[in-house]
Amino acid sequence: MHTADIPAILGASPMFGEMLPITQPTLPGVDLLIDDLRRVFDRRMITNADLVREFEQRVAKHLGVGHVVAVSSCTSGLMLVLRALGCEGEVIMPSFTFYATGHAALWNGLTPVFADCDRRTANIDPRAAASAITSRTCAILAVHVFGNPADTDALQGIADRHHLALVYDAAHGLGARRGGARLGGQGTASSFSLSPTKLITAGEGGLVTTQDGELARRIRIGRNYGDAGAYDCEFLGLSARMPEFSALLGLRCMEDLDGNVRRRHRLAQVYIERLSRLPGVSFQEIAAADTTSYKDLSVHIDADAFGLGRDGLCRSLAAENIMTKKYFCPPLHHQRLFQRFHDARRPLPNTEYLSYNSLSLPLFSHMAEEAAHKVCDAVERIHRHAGRIATMGTTP
Ligand SMILES: Cc1ncc(COP(=O)(O)O)c(C=O)c1O
Repeated sequence: MHTADIPAILGASPMFGEMLPITQPTLPGVDLLIDDLRRVFDRRMITNADLVREFEQRVAKHLGVGHVVAVSSCTSGLMLVLRALGCEGEVIMPSFTFYATGHAALWNGLTPVFADCDRRTANIDPRAAASAITSRTCAILAVHVFGNPADTDALQGIADRHHLALVYDAAHGLGARRGGARLGGQGTASSFSLSPTKLITAGEGGLVTTQDGELARRIRIGRNYGDAGAYDCEFLGLSARMPEFSALLGLRCMEDLDGNVRRRHRLAQVYIERLSRLPGVSFQEIAAADTTSYKDLSVHIDADAFGLGRDGLCRSLAAENIMTKKYFCPPLHHQRLFQRFHDARRPLPNTEYLSYNSLSLPLFSHMAEEAAHKVCDAVERIHRHAGRIATMGTTP
């Protein structure tokens, strides 16, 4: 056998000389920012000023949503939404998510109630959410997992019937569309992330979107301690403003948001076309009418059919200098902070399945298509030797 066919984990050279990161921020040329930065420095208005307002207006127009409030992170945005709504009691959420979804509830003294996800879409299953409703439920906190829009129609129907707030953790959602509509206007409010792993970044930051003017006003106050200006706080808020520098970076990144989505879709196509031919590899399903942002490209590995489990594939790809992530593993209900909220009478089989069988592959907006092809080459050669790798155990 030619050595090019041997995976690195079995002793051949790695596919990549240097580690291929799973993600990298796609940034505008620094020259584009210099003049604007100079103006910020000259004016000495470095927070709470024009660029934040311009960014908010720009995003509102782009998303077609009534109100946008820029905040310090998606997490602080979610914390403020739940606080500004005056939620008390239980919040239904997926366990297959990043822990920040749960943090937003815990910080408000709310009880997370975990509902299972749909194994195909990785999003909260509306039927599971509906069956978790009790007299103490105040809100459903759904996530657009990896940028795949949640079933907003079904969730809205449930929220309306039970008079619940419907909040979206839209951390991954910039660039995605539900039907023809961009995410942001659905439900009571959404909170997007602008951290460096997202399609556009502000360094760090978040954007709360809502059609409700009074809610937007409260979040605006909430990001400033809860002080509307009287130096006498209306409610307990946070210090969660967005600096002007972040707004400037966010504004410039926005210009290429749709281009980033297109490039990610091309890369995803490479992965999907090539890897779907392998037994035991499947992908998150996106409804035909929807557009995912592909914040992440997640593959599900059926160990029996592929010949090697998700963890073995992860280790084998690391040996090829290919970085991957086990999103989201462990799921919230197995983490120390959250396990006491898990009700064993409400099992989460799809969450368990996805947590222990999914792997996110490298994907970022400026990644070369050739790199995606090389990752596919690596997965293929790992698959050809899956049996041998599987017998090596965990410490090859
Ligand atoms: C689903 C989800 N929610 C919330 C967050 C937190 O975002 P931020 O770092 O902007 O607070 C993340 C971060 O990646 C996330 O993946």
